[in-house]
Amino acid sequence: SKRVAILISGGGSNMVSLCEDMVGEHPARPCLVLSNNPDAGGLAKAAARGIDTVAIDHRPFGKDRAAFDAAVTDALERAEPDVICLAGFMRILTPEFTARWEGRMLNIHPSLLPKYKGLNTHARAIEAGDTEAGCSVHEVTAELDGGPILGQARVPILEGDTHDALAARILPLEHKLYPAVLRRFIKGERELLNLS
Ligand code: GAR
Repeated sequence: SKRVAILISGGGSNMVSLCEDMVGEHPARPCLVLSNNPDAGGLAKAAARGIDTVAIDHRPFGKDRAAFDAAVTDALERAEPDVICLAGFMRILTPEFTARWEGRMLNIHPSLLPKYKGLNTHARAIEAGDTEAGCSVHEVTAELDGGPILGQARVPILEGDTHDALAARILPLEHKLYPAVLRRFIKGERELLNLS
């Protein structure tokens, strides 16, 4: 079966939803969960599922993004993934790294791309007076949050919404969207999936 490596920085709820889907008749299995944050809660969740884990702390690398990315590439090459899923991985990647894995790397981003690349997406959507928000899964290219969009899910923004309220409405959709897009991606399907 296909091998999927998942990169995380935090709690890893999207990583768990991907792993929960990769059972039974699913054509892929998780081969590695890698975190730049040694304290990421997701590492213990992955280990509890019997998945290989590795932490590569970015802090000793300082400003040397190339050296950090090279260390991540070494770990990924050992795991021999067919697909790499960024799931709440909060590091900016070098163009060398994205080129190394282009066509095989997905990311989930908590906005309706191309709106609100980067951070604080929900607050920015509320601040802008948008009537809807959501999440996107896209292919990773050198442009931050800019690669081809493969799937989206949307929710209304309600009167009086806060960042936390909106995040709580969107996260369960992320957990549906990412596994659905990964299944299609593995089959070679690249048309936009609209969940909602
Ligand atoms: C998710 O909401 C994901 O979309 C977001 O971080 C959260 C990770 O949660 N990703 C980004 O902001 C990427 N720039 P999780 O660790 O529970 O999956």
